[in-house]
Amino acid sequence: MVHLRIKGGNKISGEVLISGAKNSSMPILISSILTKEEVILHNVPYVSDVTNLISLLINLQTRVSLISPSRIGKSVSLTTARLANNVDFSTEASKIRTSVLLMGPSLARNGYFRLFKPGGCNIGERKIDLHVMGMKLLGAEVNETENYIEFTTHGKPLKGNIITFPLVSVGATQNVIMAATLAQGETIIQNAAIEPEIEDLILFLNKMGAKISKISEREIKIIGVKELFGTEYTIMPDRIEALTYVMIAVATGGNELILKNVSLKYFGDVINTLKTIGVELDDVTLPQYHFGGVLLKPTKELLSTSVETAPFPGFATDLQPLFMVLMLRANGQSEIVENIFENRFQHIPFLKKMGADIDYIGSKAIIRQTKNLIGSEVEGTDLRACAALAMAGLMAEGETIVRNIESLDRGYYNFVKNIINCGGVLERIS
Ligand code: EPU
Repeated sequence: MVHLRIKGGNKISGEVLISGAKNSSMPILISSILTKEEVILHNVPYVSDVTNLISLLINLQTRVSLISPSRIGKSVSLTTARLANNVDFSTEASKIRTSVLLMGPSLARNGYFRLFKPGGCNIGERKIDLHVMGMKLLGAEVNETENYIEFTTHGKPLKGNIITFPLVSVGATQNVIMAATLAQGETIIQNAAIEPEIEDLILFLNKMGAKISKISEREIKIIGVKELFGTEYTIMPDRIEALTYVMIAVATGGNELILKNVSLKYFGDVINTLKTIGVELDDVTLPQYHFGGVLLKPTKELLSTSVETAPFPGFATDLQPLFMVLMLRANGQSEIVENIFENRFQHIPFLKKMGADIDYIGSKAIIRQTKNLIGSEVEGTDLRACAALAMAGLMAEGETIVRNIESLDRGYYNFVKNIINCGGVLERIS
């Protein structure tokens, strides 16, 4: 097990190179299996969720190679001349939930997919009923056993349909989009997720020859095509990673922070929330980076606020644990409601152990200004909770140990190195 030892109290400022978006690269890597031809992806983040997914794709007979040296992040070549059907990846699947996203493309390409039930995870139950509903409406027959769910089209192509999701799901929207690219006829997704990572997936698939368009705020139309082709694509920057560093810099009272290879256009409405609490961000020209750069100016006074997590363009659930820690620095009392996942407050008891003035009941938390956090031993329960506790450790007096930071590596590339480069004192210990 790996832990993080942090000596708090230093201001975080300087420069950080932002990776490609984890939550965009996962469906895009998976989409490469929709064609027999070579797909080249740039700006792929080498976080453990991605490397585990690449191992899974290799098991499915995708030929994967790293292209180096690359100017923009890591570049990967993927060719799936033949897509295997009967791979038992039950253990890998439990490691990365994103294996669920193999369902749509595998069905579209092979007319068959067997999914080992991924189960819940630390942040919630994480059902897959909407993914299954989507595949059924596209014409797949579904057979469920205790351990797995089997999907088949009996050798026929999938068929376009109108799919109205009862709630907005990023993953189910991605699965249906990918499956429908090769279906016969037209598919309309209503109440679709519209996260920037979904737009990135659509841009990529259209570059492969798909016909996907957004026809209204939450409606996506996919006209099925006979085949998709190889292409080259650069993954969008990771907005959650970028905003993590912004919040750490603000919370520790840092001076300027420059985020390299990212642009404000990917941040969505969260910029307005940050503006209302006194955080100033601007795009800056950094011509050597594909996506340019963002400058965080020093924050004079941080104001309290109330936010509720919601599907994009609302406040991202992935930022909630970090924002809660940030609000400990704000003048007055803040309120946060978590509406997306039922178990995403696991960081709170650990923050309270560090002296944070937070009360919570159900999905609502009240956060009051806490001037002095005290270093303690805490436990990282999931990816964003780990980052939030590391952030609290950087703000605290004395030493903090964040135990079990494996989940941090799932989504942050070079977290420790980046923070050290910006003046933080921390190390990985085992
Ligand atoms: N849901 C269902 N049934 C389904 C699918 C989802 O009830 O079939 C529910 C979920 O349980 C949840 C809500 O719908 O309560 C939203 O889930 P969604 O499907 O949108 O989430 P996801 O696709 O599983 C992605 C990100 C998450 C991020 C959420 C919400 C990836 C790989 N994961 O998950 O990212 O929190 O969207 O924005 O894209 C993270 O990066 O730390 C992370 C957890």
